[in-house]
Amino acid sequence: MKGVILAGGLGTRLYPLTKVTNKHLLPVYDRPMIFYPLETLVKAGIRDIMVVTGGTSAGDFLRLLENGKDFGLEHLTYAYQEGEKGIAHALGLAEHFAGGEKLVVMLGDNIIEKDITKEVEIFQKQEKGARILLKEVDDPQRFGVAEIKDGRIIRIIEKPAEPPTRFAVTGIYMYDSQVFEFIKNLKPSSRGELEITDVNNRYIEKGEMTYGILEGWWTDAGTFNSLLRANILVAKKRGTK
Ligand code: DAU
Repeated sequence: MKGVILAGGLGTRLYPLTKVTNKHLLPVYDRPMIFYPLETLVKAGIRDIMVVTGGTSAGDFLRLLENGKDFGLEHLTYAYQEGEKGIAHALGLAEHFAGGEKLVVMLGDNIIEKDITKEVEIFQKQEKGARILLKEVDDPQRFGVAEIKDGRIIRIIEKPAEPPTRFAVTGIYMYDSQVFEFIKNLKPSSRGELEITDVNNRYIEKGEMTYGILEGWWTDAGTFNSLLRANILVAKKRGTK
């Protein structure tokens, strides 16, 4: 199974922090943000990883991560996303890299406490389709939210004003190779992006979506408040008082 980290986009919600650099290069406690999702995939046993980046600081990823030796990797693959055309658009750039294999995809601004090896193993055994990880949160309006009936996800609503549950869809997605066909058939949303939620809803319609509940804490780091929260959670994990 291969891994993809999506670290494109313009990070406008963190402006001016992102005026001269990419959001995923900003510090989260003692490391650049991109280190955390990379570490998560490596800990889950994934060795073949593509980083999709964009914006004006793309070259800095190469200087920072090099060939991934600090993470025990032999090589890293990079792709460049022009503009901010959405998470699904960024993932579409990994089609050639995937080469028909299953993928674990992680958003570059998602940071988690525990490891996802067990979940990856479950997906490895899943014959086809997709698997996502949910987490119960206090502010579901900020995320994709899963509507669940009889133990199955019946749809995902992106940033609903009135969330049907408190189960946010985290930025960890596992897909089979159908994902690239779904992406090719997407239409941009009202915010002008190809939405990963639309991709997930395609799998749900086909009855090929499973889910797990993420253990430990989870945060994104794409707003001032969530970036602060990410710093505090990581500092506490490292044992800082
Ligand atoms: O964090 C989880 C949430 O991420 C999910 O619950 C939502 O369903 C999903 O849409 C997404 O929501 P956000 O609005 O928070 O996503 P954001 O635009 O902040 O993008 C998250 C990451 O995706 C970002 O750190 C880099 C990557 N990305 C995003 C865009 C728009 C790209 O690589 N390219 C892009 O064009």
